[in-house]
Amino acid sequence: MMTTNKSILSYCCLFIFILINPIESASYRPVVIIHGVLTGSESMEQISARIQETHPGTQIFNTPRYAGWSSLEPMWHQVEEIGQDLMAISAAFPEGINLLGYSQGGLLARAILQRFPDHNVRTFISLSSPQAGQYGTKFLHLFFPGLVCETAFELFYSRVGQHTSVGNYWNDPYHQKLYFEYSKFLPLVNNEEQSGNSSDFKLGLTKLKKLVLIGGPDDGVITPWQSSQFGYYKFNETVVEMRNREIYQTDAIGLKTLDKANKLMTYTVPGVTHDQWHKNMTLVDLYILPHLD
Ligand SMILES: *[C@@H]1O[C@H](CO)[C@@H](O)[C@H](O)[C@H]1NC(C)=O
Ligand SMILES: *[C@@H]1O[C@H](CO)[C@@H](O)[C@H](O)[C@H]1NC(C)=O
Ligand SMILES: *[C@@H]1O[C@H](CO)[C@@H](O)[C@H](O)[C@H]1NC(C)=O
Repeated sequence: MMTTNKSILSYCCLFIFILINPIESASYRPVVIIHGVLTGSESMEQISARIQETHPGTQIFNTPRYAGWSSLEPMWHQVEEIGQDLMAISAAFPEGINLLGYSQGGLLARAILQRFPDHNVRTFISLSSPQAGQYGTKFLHLFFPGLVCETAFELFYSRVGQHTSVGNYWNDPYHQKLYFEYSKFLPLVNNEEQSGNSSDFKLGLTKLKKLVLIGGPDDGVITPWQSSQFGYYKFNETVVEMRNREIYQTDAIGLKTLDKANKLMTYTVPGVTHDQWHKNMTLVDLYILPHLD
């Protein structure tokens, strides 16, 4: 009699548990994490720990690739190599995975989704990443002392300059002709320049269940900060928001499709400097964790 009662009781409890606690919330689908420029996986350890603390059992794949100086290698090299890792993880977890990229890592992550459209990433979170390009030299002074915006194009829009990741997404509003002529990366992944891969590039993003774009006006590094949400300068330094830009209006990479299906979320968080996005656990709790599943 005791045993029966007990098992009925535990059955009820289990039932109630399922009702109030969808099973997924115990542990998330695996999360692949890509760090920013001039750092490595250690910079993303705090965020990994937070995910595992709130959702024990979640597998984290925090890429150690292209750490430190090697993070300046061309974007396509990094996309290819980290992308192959991501595809192996995708294959191992057919139920789907999550992807999170910080700063340059968020642009790499986005390009991986496009270059490998057979991925099974459900949610992609871009944490203050130069998705529409970069026109600010603040973070470059470490390795290019004295570099200023006005003349940086001379360095980046050249064969040599395209051998750096930053050159690949340098987007000078005053030198768009050179940008299209020299840039081997951003015009292609943004489908601003059509290629044999354009439809795949669109498919890889459009198939997401959720695209989360996080950034803010006090970032100080991503310039303009709206680039973190696909906004950018037009001709001069007037910023045009994502929804008013051609990339959105022509649905070049699926942003409009995602938005219309309520799968595109943007967060503008004031008061956060660039080096804080991945270290501020309040922010992680508020804007990242709720989107993982
Ligand atoms: C398409 O992508 C493949 C693999 O990255 C690359 O080898 C090829 O050059 C690309 N083609 C075009 C037209 O961009
Ligand atoms: C920038 O361009 C826009 C549109 O052409 C124009 O309205 C605005 O006055 C320009 N701003 C400056 C600072 O040149
Ligand atoms: C951390 O994030 C919270 C929530 O967005 C924000 O209010 C706070 O100012 C941030 N703190 C720092 C040091 O960035």
